[in-house]
Amino acid sequence: MHRPALGEAHLAARAWLRGQIVAAGLEFRIDRAGNHSAFLACGPAGAPTLLMGSHLDSVPHGGRFDGALGVLAALETLRVVREAHVSLPVHLEAMDFTDEEGTLVGELGSAALAGTLSAQMLQNPRGGRAALQAGLARAGLAEVGLLAARRDPATLAGYLELHIEQGPRLVQAQAPIGVVTGIVGLCSYRLTFAGQGDHAGTTPMADRQDAALGASAFTLAARQVVLEDFPGCVVNVGEMRFAPGAFNIVPAQVDVALEFRAPEPEMLDRLEAALLGQARAAAGQFGLELQVEPLGRTDPTPMSKAAQRAVAEAAGALGLAHVALASGAVHDAQSLAAVCPAGMAFVPSVAGASHSPREFTPWADCVNGANVLLQAALRMALEGGREGREGIG
Ligand code: GLV
Ligand code: MN
Ligand code: MN
Repeated sequence: MHRPALGEAHLAARAWLRGQIVAAGLEFRIDRAGNHSAFLACGPAGAPTLLMGSHLDSVPHGGRFDGALGVLAALETLRVVREAHVSLPVHLEAMDFTDEEGTLVGELGSAALAGTLSAQMLQNPRGGRAALQAGLARAGLAEVGLLAARRDPATLAGYLELHIEQGPRLVQAQAPIGVVTGIVGLCSYRLTFAGQGDHAGTTPMADRQDAALGASAFTLAARQVVLEDFPGCVVNVGEMRFAPGAFNIVPAQVDVALEFRAPEPEMLDRLEAALLGQARAAAGQFGLELQVEPLGRTDPTPMSKAAQRAVAEAAGALGLAHVALASGAVHDAQSLAAVCPAGMAFVPSVAGASHSPREFTPWADCVNGANVLLQAALRMALEGGREGREGIG
């Protein structure tokens, strides 16, 4: 599945979703961040809305289930409630958030809706400014609209997201459902190691300022630091761009796409300091300049206790074994947790594979997950009406 945010394939998938929403007799909505949604007015006038959903964009050459499962299960939940003529204390809305995966910014649509998106985050995004501008133009969106897409939190009863686990723990535990306790924090950086381009045949080895050596030494050192000093954390160098980039030129510059994740904010801070220290040391070792560009940070986020309870009780009522687990992937639920009670349910990923065409979840597990989403949504909806909203987090 190759559906980077706001590319042609992504826009085609969104057009398809719109058709499904209309065919289901639901109200189609699109906001100024491009978030697509189906709305069902099943609550009293002026009632808040319980959101559900995920994203239809994918990483480059990713899988079929990451995000799409949550959008379609949310849509199906609305269809079931509509067909059953159920009245609830809240309205329901199934969301397809813009650019969750961060080929442009990351959690772009959900952050815009939550009101946590800043103009500064749009100035130096992960995917580059030009790609963001081109994507927005293709989709008919504007930056000023993104920054105005915030919804009043008083109108939000909560948020629930069904997603594949993207790791091996549910399969290992032989549990069909995961109740997500919290979501990992993530930092992205572009590091630029700059040396000197030279003739690769005639420049003595000792005289080179080879930018590739700094980037490579850093990559190995970063792995070692995490393995030795940061249990529960991860680091990834997902891309290196060599310039000028030829067999017979000593690399003058290497741009490194760096991402690292930690379960606690304080750990993310320490990891950041340790990795940037390693980058400076690697540059120094090979006589290189280092440029450091921060491209975004998402803090570790606990899921709401009420949402966790709703998911666990839904699974229990359906006779589905469930385990509590933290998410090592980031999700739109993280954005929503800033403004309303937010929670997630996971279903198993075969071999733990994700962000890869090997991603797979059997249909029976998808159906279990969709049923848990429906039942959890009904629980949250009724609780939201009876007890009002709990505190955030
Ligand atoms: C999103 O899937 C991420 O965790 O990168
Ligand atoms: Mn996802
Ligand atoms: Mn993903």
